[in-house]
This record gives sequence, C-alpha cells and structure tokens, in this order.
Amino acid sequence: MSLLSLFTTLALASIALTKPVSYPRVPCTPRSQTISWGPCSFPNLGSSPIECGILFVPVDYTSPALNETFGLPLFRSRATKPVTPSKGSILFNFGGPGYEAVQSLNSLADFLHLGVVNTLRFSCFDTPADRLIAAYKFPILAIGATDVALVDTWASTQVYSNICQTKNNNTNRGGVIGTAYVARDMMRIVDALNEDGLLRFWGFSYGSLLGETVAAMFPDRIDRLVLDGVVNGHNYYHRQGVDVDQLLSADDAFLGVLDQCITAGPAKCALATVNSTAADLAKALNRLAEEIRTAPIAVGDTVINFTFVKELLFIVIKYPSDVANAALHINNLLHRQNLTGVVDYYKSLQASIAMGDDDAIWGIKCSDTFPRSKELSEVMPDIEHMSNTSSTFGPYVASVTTICANWPFEAKERYAGDFKVKTRFPILFVGNTYDPATPVASARNMSASFEGSVVLEQHGFGHASLSQLSACTTTNLQAYFVNGTLPASGTVCEVDASLFK
Ligand SMILES: *[C@@H]1O[C@H](CO)[C@@H](O)[C@H](O)[C@H]1NC(C)=O
Ligand SMILES: *[C@@H]1O[C@H](CO)[C@@H](O)[C@H](O)[C@H]1NC(C)=O
Ligand SMILES: *[C@@H]1O[C@H](CO)[C@@H](O)[C@H](O)[C@H]1NC(C)=O
Ligand SMILES: *[C@@H]1O[C@H](CO)[C@@H](O)[C@H](O)[C@H]1NC(C)=O
Ligand SMILES: *[C@@H]1O[C@H](CO)[C@@H](O)[C@H](O)[C@H]1NC(C)=O
Ligand SMILES: *[C@@H]1O[C@H](CO)[C@@H](O)[C@H](O)[C@H]1NC(C)=O
Ligand SMILES: *[C@@H]1O[C@H](CO)[C@@H](O)[C@H](O)[C@H]1NC(C)=O
Ligand SMILES: *[C@@H]1O[C@H](CO)[C@@H](O)[C@H](O)[C@H]1NC(C)=O
Repeated sequence: MSLLSLFTTLALASIALTKPVSYPRVPCTPRSQTISWGPCSFPNLGSSPIECGILFVPVDYTSPALNETFGLPLFRSRATKPVTPSKGSILFNFGGPGYEAVQSLNSLADFLHLGVVNTLRFSCFDTPADRLIAAYKFPILAIGATDVALVDTWASTQVYSNICQTKNNNTNRGGVIGTAYVARDMMRIVDALNEDGLLRFWGFSYGSLLGETVAAMFPDRIDRLVLDGVVNGHNYYHRQGVDVDQLLSADDAFLGVLDQCITAGPAKCALATVNSTAADLAKALNRLAEEIRTAPIAVGDTVINFTFVKELLFIVIKYPSDVANAALHINNLLHRQNLTGVVDYYKSLQASIAMGDDDAIWGIKCSDTFPRSKELSEVMPDIEHMSNTSSTFGPYVASVTTICANWPFEAKERYAGDFKVKTRFPILFVGNTYDPATPVASARNMSASFEGSVVLEQHGFGHASLSQLSACTTTNLQAYFVNGTLPASGTVCEVDASLFK
C-alpha cells in the first residue's frame, strides 16, 4: 500500500509559507471569499496535474482597518478518485521555507500529488547576488572550524540584522511575518475552501511548529493534524527560533547509519571496509574532519575544509535516500582519492537542498522569538547544550543560535502560550528514531501538553517519516485521516527496507 492510495480519497491543497515582498494593495473583500483555481504558470513537475489559485488575505491581522491584503499563492492537486461525500482537503507545509521545501519538491511532488513553489518573500537584499556576497563577507561558520569562528559569527549575525533593518526599516514587513500570521492565513484558506470549516493538515519540520501554533490558537477547528518531524515549540519560541534539542538524536543517527553500513557489508556500503564497528568508523570519520580542519584540501574551485566534511555527513544522515552512493564518496575522501568526484557529489547535495532566494526563514523565526540576547555570553548555554548533545554535529550546527539574537523586528502577534491545549480532535505526532534534526523526544515533549494526542514512532532514519517507506506508518496515517483512528500510544512502526538495499 502506498501513501498515494490514502490521497486518492481526498482532495489536497497546500499553502505557501510566507508573504510576498511586493504585494498588490487591494481592498479587503469580506469573508465569503472563494479561491478560483486555474492552470499554473510553471510546468507540472510530475504526472498529476497541479492547479494554482490565489487567496487574498490581510497583510496585518492586528491592523484590520488598514484594509491591506496580499495574494497568497496556493497549489492543489485534486483527488484522483474522488469520493462522495468528499472527506475535505488536506493542507501541507513541507517546512523550511526553502531548505526542506526544495528537497520535498524534488523527491515527493508526484508521490503526494502536490507541488510547492517559492514565492517572493521577506528580503534583506536587492538581488540574490548581493545576498551571496553578504554570505561570503559575513559567514555563519561552524563553531568548530577555527578558534575565532564563534566570535566572528556573532559579529556577522549583528551585521546581518543591521542590513535587514536598514532594508526593511520603512516597510513594517518585519513585524507582520511570523508563524501566528501564517496560522491565521491557514484558517482563511480553510474558510475559503467552503467545506466544514475544519482544518486537516500534515506539517513537516517547521510545518510541525506551524501546526502546533495553529492548534494552540484554533483548538476548536482542528479535524486532523499530523505533525511529522517535530520541533519543540517551547524551545522555538523562547530560544532564538531554534529548537536547542534538535540534535538529541544526531549522534545516534550517525552511529545508526554507520551500523547499518557495516551490517550491509562492503558490497553494499564502501565504508564497511574501513572498520568493523560503528563506533570505530565514527571515530575514523571524526578524525578525518579534524585532520582536514588543520589541513584543508584545494580541489578545483573548492576547498575541502572542516565545514565541508561535517556538512556532507549531516546531509547524508538527514536525507539518506542516496546513502550507498554517499558512502562511496566519503570512503574516497577518507582515502584522499577521486576528490573531484567527492566535490561534485557534495555540490549536487548542496544544490538539492539550496535555500530559496530570500530571508524569510530567519525573518519568520527571528520575529517569532523572544527574548533576544545582547551579548554572546547569553547564548553560550544554548551553544554548549547543542554541543553537549551531539559531539559530532554540535560544533557544526550550534552557531545557528546566534542568528536571531540581534534581530531588529518583532512579530506584532506571536503565540506566547504553553501549548496546554485540548484540540477538537487529537493530534497525531510522528517522529523517526534516527532523525538527526527533529528527535522523537521533541514529538514526545509536545504531545505531553496537547491533550489526547499520540506519538507514532517510526523506527527508521532521516528527517521526518517520508524519508523511508513504512507500510505500517502509511496504514496508521490512513486510519487517522480517513476514520479518525489514533494509533495506540507507544506504537512503533518498522520501515519496509533497510537503508543499504
Ligand atoms: C477600510 O475600509 C473601510 C470600509 O470600506 C473604510 O471605511 C475605511 O476608510 C478603509 N480604511 C482605509 C485606511 O482605507
Ligand atoms: C529606522 O527608522 C527610524 C525612524 O524612521 C530611524 O530613526 C532609524 O534611524 C532607522 N534605522 C535604520 C537602521 O535605518
Ligand atoms: C578504523 O579505521 C581507520 C582507517 O582505516 C584506522 O586508522 C583505525 O585504526 C581503525 N580503528 C580501529 C579501532 O580499528
Ligand atoms: C569552508 O568552506 C566553506 C565553503 O565550502 C566556506 O563557506 C567556509 O567559510 C570555509 N571555512 C570555514 C572556516 O568553514
Ligand atoms: C570519480 O568519481 C566520479 C563521480 O562519482 C566518477 O564518475 C568517476 O568515475 C570516478 N573516477 C575514478 C578514477 O574513480
Ligand atoms: C556541557 O557539558 C559540560 C561537561 O560535561 C558541563 O560542564 C556543562 O554544564 C554542560 N553544559 C550544558 C549547557 O549542558
Ligand atoms: C518540554 O520542553 C521544554 C523546553 O525544553 C521543557 O521546559 C519542558 O519541561 C518539556 N516538557 C516535557 C513534558 O518534557
Ligand atoms: C475505516 O474503517 C472501516 C470500518 O471499520 C474499515 O473497513 C476501513 O478499512 C478503515 N479505513 C482505513 C483507511 O483505515
């Protein structure tokens, strides 16, 4: 049974996460608005037709008298086998924006009958080239890369905040992007769909945080909510837009992948020849990163440095669909052979997860979060916590905690509650055992405060449940969406195939 068969009974709609930078000023039309669907201006990525629509929503829900609206782009794929009566639409959010969304787009569009494209969004630069130049001049460095990487990064993030402030100072944009706004947009979409006024939603990664927020703000309007690859919302709102527990499973995930590699053997995983246990192999790869830290290698137009090695390893365990090929390249790197091939592979991975050309991801996260920090010392506990929770990836990821510290804008509306909420229908949280970016512990944490909710653990690898197929997970999701059946608490689903097939 594939996920697809679930969706043959349901119509789908998806939302774009954020707001265009230059939106048309049109008068607010009252409630009864509907979405008119038509062909899209971009080619279909898969075989299932995608329709495009626009819904005009308020720019600033906190100042309705301004009457200012903008067109929120929507994409939908209709059910291939509609049922009567319809079960209603499911909204999706793939996370990001940018990072996860692009990954999802490339690998899942056909699978889920769905397309998501980028829209113009919150921006701190006139052109993508300007953003690129700023990223080189003021980089967010892996704190493990050099002795001064952290203090340099702290100063860089201050400059980034300054640039964003200057660019958006007179627009008020910075105060009207934020998750609470997106949550209200989602309910506008639900209204405009003219169904039963209830929300059905499947959110991945950041989309889970959006789902937590919408559930806490509109508990009476929740029909089905699957939150998959779960972000700890307490941390997100109070720790500079970062789930400081995000790496809780990262070392386990790393060791787990290496263990699968050794079990699969050299014919399926090139790295299996290196050492005979996952722990030894992990040590060898950490030593590799350390060697390259002090002796980076120039290859064509690229420097293989500490960040390169850590990023390569992290992307591979976060998106393990091509892991056998990755193992080949990592083994080459370990033996300093065919480095051109390694660099090309790294570049292809990077391209597949490239960020969108905007600043919305940090604009949203940073506007949402409170309090800010004036001194680096104030974020040090979070950096330490992340470094302590993952010895392999903490020194690569932890610097993200500095980005929002000096952010100049605050969302005018922000969810400030404790998520102690009873939703109209219980939430289904989903988490992978070996997810290096959203640990199942965060799913458990959030489930604890949403009354009646259940955690489904998928015993597999990668970021969120779609990274590996599991007939068990699919069956449980179908039962939830179609019949409203929640899995028994403590349910663990195995995946269908091992990582190295
Ligand atoms: C908004 O619309 C209302 C009703 O049409 C009108 O009375 C009001 O003047 C408008 N406000 C602005 C700022 O245009
Ligand atoms: C932003 O605008 C305010 C008031 O218009 C002004 O006082 C301030 O200097 C501006 N800040 C920047 C960074 O441009
Ligand atoms: C693991 O492999 C590396 C590289 O071949 C080697 O240097 C190291 O000694 C091995 N470690 C163990 C414990 O076998
Ligand atoms: C390492 O290389 C990356 C690009 O490959 C670059 O962004 C970074 O600044 C380099 N240096 C350090 C210290 O990470
Ligand atoms: C190096 O790697 C590339 C990309 O994987 C591959 O196409 C090429 O055949 C390899 N070259 C050698 C000499 O192994
Ligand atoms: C990190 O680990 C060190 C050493 O175990 C410990 O002293 C420190 O308190 C930990 N810091 C945090 C924030 O957990
Ligand atoms: C959830 O996480 C928050 C933030 O780390 C923490 O304060 C809270 O105690 C956790 N709740 C549960 C039930 O684990
Ligand atoms: C929904 O419940 C009906 C009746 O128990 C059952 O036959 C059907 O298989 C269930 N559908 C799903 C998708 O679980």
